[in-house]
Amino acid sequence: MLLRVMLLAATAFALAPLEPPAGKLIFGAWYDRNLSDTPSAVNSRFGYKPLAMFQTDVDFSGVVKPWTSPEAVIPMFMQHLNDTNTDAIAYLTVYPFQGLGSNITDAQVNDMGRRLVLLVNSGHKVFLRFAPEMNGNWFNYGQDPASFISTWIRCITAWRNTLGANAKNVAFIWSPNSGNGYPYPGGISWPNPNSTAQFDIDRIKLLDTNKNGKLDPLDDPYAPYYPGDEYVDWVGISIYHYGNQWPWIHNSIPVSNKFEKFMQGDPKDGETFGYFPFYTPYATSAGARNNITGAQISAGNKPFIVSETAATYHFAWVNESTIGAPVQDIPRTAVKQAWWKQFMNSDFIAKYPQFKAVCTFEFIKEEELTWRDFSILGPPPNPHPVSNFKQLDQDVADLFAKDAAASMPFVLYANPLESKGNAVISPSGGTTKSPTSDGGNRLVWSGAAVAFAITFWLHFHF
Ligand SMILES: *[C@@H]1O[C@H](CO)[C@@H](O)[C@H](O)[C@H]1NC(C)=O
Ligand SMILES: *[C@@H]1O[C@H](CO)[C@@H](O)[C@H](O)[C@H]1NC(C)=O
Ligand SMILES: *[C@@H]1O[C@H](CO)[C@@H](O)[C@H](O)[C@H]1NC(C)=O
Ligand SMILES: *[C@@H]1O[C@H](CO)[C@@H](O)[C@H](O)[C@H]1NC(C)=O
Ligand SMILES: *[C@@H]1O[C@H](CO)[C@@H](O)[C@H](O)[C@H]1NC(C)=O
Ligand SMILES: *[C@@H]1O[C@H](CO)[C@@H](O)[C@H](O)[C@H]1NC(C)=O
Repeated sequence: MLLRVMLLAATAFALAPLEPPAGKLIFGAWYDRNLSDTPSAVNSRFGYKPLAMFQTDVDFSGVVKPWTSPEAVIPMFMQHLNDTNTDAIAYLTVYPFQGLGSNITDAQVNDMGRRLVLLVNSGHKVFLRFAPEMNGNWFNYGQDPASFISTWIRCITAWRNTLGANAKNVAFIWSPNSGNGYPYPGGISWPNPNSTAQFDIDRIKLLDTNKNGKLDPLDDPYAPYYPGDEYVDWVGISIYHYGNQWPWIHNSIPVSNKFEKFMQGDPKDGETFGYFPFYTPYATSAGARNNITGAQISAGNKPFIVSETAATYHFAWVNESTIGAPVQDIPRTAVKQAWWKQFMNSDFIAKYPQFKAVCTFEFIKEEELTWRDFSILGPPPNPHPVSNFKQLDQDVADLFAKDAAASMPFVLYANPLESKGNAVISPSGGTTKSPTSDGGNRLVWSGAAVAFAITFWLHFHF
């Protein structure tokens, strides 16, 4: 009886690794190294408010995009974080471009484990998002649920073992793409229904969750890829506004509740928003079940991160010989603000209490037919030559900072590192601003640490 009471108490109280207390949101940015951006530069553009989290990515194979190999990126990332003079979370996205299964060598797994230890020892907690958007067809490791799950379990288990007691400082994020458009026919890893290859026949069988003999939008875009509650600390999805109408070349204000519908699906308009909810099954006690058998896939209750998000602004054609540019009669500020207001508001946070982190995608890049500006935190130091809009981007950043100050009391900011004081947070030679003088929220970890200790103790003593 006592044990039961203690277990219930621990369950109610237990927070996952890195999970902030109720009502608080970790906010951060995926900065673009390729445009010479850095976390310190993002903080300075945001009025020297230190963001709580910065994301960067590596090519786990080290060879497909060698300039993004773990060896090239992780030491640079550590330096970038150190330069902020804060305890900002290191959010590392690991793309297994070598493929899954035996394509990933033990040496690669062990090397990553050692780097995670270094990262944690440098004073930063770590989000690790492994093999993101595995339900998409655009990466070579996509839409292969059996290999994905076995690879996930192998890697996460190895990394937790290497981390030992430090595992409480690293949260593993399982993060498919939002289900709108699933199964995204075409693409490099999509299983063509006409294929006679056993590999394709086998994975279509796993992906056809409603057992109607084909892979279609009524198949669950998430459940086949879930590796199991014990191997997942946080759940997340990528959510983007590219436009309201395909092809994605028109600048437009996102329709109301679009973010929420991508997060939760919409049975009435599943073709547009996806049929299946994500937040409710994975982040609440509703849990996730097999669509036919009802078998439990997840008990739910995981903290939820919006792993990457942005509203894109189309500002040039990729094919520069095309005359003109996408129509830009809607201001950049209007498109961007309409998007962040959909989820960065107190009502949304109260409605979805397990929504505990969000990372914006601060990139300017070409995709499909257009050049796209994804950013809300201001112009990177070295934008692409076709993006001649520094002031327009700064206007967006200023508007976001204004909204954040006025209506986002839930946002957590990083703590300055004691040992180094506040000096480096200000621009060199500029006015020193104390990052604590604004009275804002700071990352608080003690509750999570205590809860983890209790859970850990119960787990190994009963
Ligand atoms: C930027 O990307 C290109 C490939 O598109 C790569 O060759 C280059 O090294 C990258 N630069 C940085 C700083 O990452
Ligand atoms: C390993 O890589 C090869 C070559 O890219 C690919 O054909 C194969 O499917 C991969 N194996 C797995 C399990 O992903
Ligand atoms: C961070 O930078 C300081 C200098 O500002 C240096 O003394 C320290 O060793 C660095 N720490 C790491 C972990 O790189
Ligand atoms: C599959 O084969 C049928 C019949 O040949 C064809 O009409 C259809 O376009 C094919 N589908 C794909 C995705 O290749
Ligand atoms: C299967 O998914 C559909 C579409 O979301 C839903 O209406 C139905 O209730 C689900 N069935 C089960 C058993 O989960
Ligand atoms: C680029 O646009 C020009 C003019 O419209 C067209 O002739 C050409 O085929 C396009 N090139 C590509 C690669 O789409």
